[in-house]
Amino acid sequence: MFEDNDFVCRHMQLTKADIVKVIRDKNITSFDDLQDETNVATICGSCVSDIEDILEEEIAKR
Ligand code: FES
Repeated sequence: MFEDNDFVCRHMQLTKADIVKVIRDKNITSFDDLQDETNVATICGSCVSDIEDILEEEIAKR
């Protein structure tokens, strides 16, 4: 589990809190949309499954 201030995508310097904020503010429903907004996971891709987990968690809360 990530804490809010942990970097989930080191390459894009995005913390869990940053990602959650974009998901909520833009009402993101897919990984592709999240990537369009943030460029998350566009360098090494090692963060993809963590990002997907966070996205799923947020969608489940709606
Ligand atoms: S850690 Fe996200 S692209 Fe490398």
